[in-house]
Amino acid sequence: MAWNHKDLISIKDLDKQDILHILDVAKRMGPGYTPVADGKILATLFFEPSTRTRLSFEAAMHRLGGNVIGFADSSNTSVAKGETLSDTIRIVDGYADIIVIRHPREGSAKTAAEAASIPVVNGGDGINEHPTQTLLDLYTIQETFGKFDGLTVAFVGDLKFGRTVHSLSYALSHFDTKLCFVAPESLRMPEHYVSMLQRKGIEVTETADLKSVLPIADVLYVTRIQKERFMKPEDYDKVKGYYRLGKEILQDAKEGMKILHPLPRVDEINLELDEAEQSIYFKQAHNGIPVRKALLAMLLGLVDDA
Ligand code: NCD
Repeated sequence: MAWNHKDLISIKDLDKQDILHILDVAKRMGPGYTPVADGKILATLFFEPSTRTRLSFEAAMHRLGGNVIGFADSSNTSVAKGETLSDTIRIVDGYADIIVIRHPREGSAKTAAEAASIPVVNGGDGINEHPTQTLLDLYTIQETFGKFDGLTVAFVGDLKFGRTVHSLSYALSHFDTKLCFVAPESLRMPEHYVSMLQRKGIEVTETADLKSVLPIADVLYVTRIQKERFMKPEDYDKVKGYYRLGKEILQDAKEGMKILHPLPRVDEINLELDEAEQSIYFKQAHNGIPVRKALLAMLLGLVDDA
């Protein structure tokens, strides 16, 4: 099939076929050594903290036989001297074959893509989007349920600032899914997302009551309250620890329900749930390797039928 994407900035850049194709290539490649990117260089430019996204992109590039340069702390770079994002990107453009960027500002990945001739991947731009997390979330759902159609997905926690929620809910709207948004009033899913999903024909329900969705949700997508995004610490304090899922939720849970979380967690999932068969968030994080391998290889034009 035709694959003609230069960058991945928003999950909206991909249609349903593109998404299914990436998942398919990821499944075929798996997490192991597939040295198709010999001599290619990935630059990881991380202006915000990260564990999974940066390390799994870097591991993915190594598993493709390529090399990695980059930084995890921009205070060590010329950004500290006042260099603009566009200038930094124009320089790295000459040092690497593909860039993954994470930055606190919404729209920064788009700015980077405009300044670069090489592919740019959004590894999270502020509260906006996190499309590659979405791809591994979808991979995990597909691996677990074998389908998307017919599933009810409940998003729990910080739906206002949670960029993974924004990207994943949009991607799920390509399928026949029902979405429940479970959040305290101040962290509700932004209205423009809710109306956009409804316009796409998706049934959306909103509540603050976690218990009410337990009997119907196939997937509980739990998220961290994004402390660093609050303007006032007292606003964070009001919602801190709002949901703390423990073993008791399993009593009311739908048969076959699974718990996903993009991680890191703080206190929203009790450690006692880790061993439950419903908890698949560590597996989910590990799925970042095949998915990011596939994405890098496809954007670099290294997958034959891509
Ligand atoms: C998420 C993020 O950075 O948005 N983390 C991740 O990439 N897995 C979620 C979070 O920070 O809460």
